[in-house]
Amino acid sequence: MDIDDAKRIAGIEAANFVLSGMKVGLGTGSTVKHTVVELGRRIKDEGLEIVGVPTSLATERLAMEVGIPLIELSDVDSLDIVIDGADEYDSNFQLIKGGGAALLREKIVAQQSSAMVVVADDRKQVDVLGAFPLPIEVTPFAYMTTVRSLSHLMNCDVSIRIEEDKPLVTDNGNYIADAQTGPSISNPVDLENEILQIAGVVQVGLFNNMCDAVVLAGQNGISTHFRSNGRLS
Ligand code: A5P
Repeated sequence: MDIDDAKRIAGIEAANFVLSGMKVGLGTGSTVKHTVVELGRRIKDEGLEIVGVPTSLATERLAMEVGIPLIELSDVDSLDIVIDGADEYDSNFQLIKGGGAALLREKIVAQQSSAMVVVADDRKQVDVLGAFPLPIEVTPFAYMTTVRSLSHLMNCDVSIRIEEDKPLVTDNGNYIADAQTGPSISNPVDLENEILQIAGVVQVGLFNNMCDAVVLAGQNGISTHFRSNGRLS
């Protein structure tokens, strides 16, 4: 099975967590897009009745294309579940997200969800977070000041993500700083809190104590792993 097949099969499998009547957070990325497409298929073919909240403009477009009715997060108290991708996850189900620059909306949606399912391929599973550069959403105002503060805090190189020779602009009008910490984030809870102290930081792509299950695609097929004492176990 090649990696694209694995992502597709895992994305479809994760859609099984969704039942009629649910309010569903719709994640962003090349894996969870298959979940979104599958939910659209179930709405058409099986009469699945759900509403969705997309975590990015790209997912909003896809959800509309496949026929998922959308609502505003601010119009409801909470969501039943969010299904999303991840860039890395460790044995405690702590995550790095934001490789697709959608971390702020992803985190707002995840915080309002009663459960979080991550869909990933097995390259994302790590012992210690940080080989994947840690994405941090920052204000355009004085962004180089923020980059220097982040670099000083983590003692590593931090760079602004560039797209077509200009800083990439997120769906929220901000920039993304990527921190090359290396696989050294052994205490992601403390690091998240420290990063959030810097005024120019809007949000950081550490998702701590949020993920309840991972649907994992590997060479040997699909497996689902539940966090012990999580909200789905
Ligand atoms: C988007 O900002 C990210 O958090 C994605 O969810 C993450 O990068 C996983 O994306 P892929 O499934 O495309 O690897």
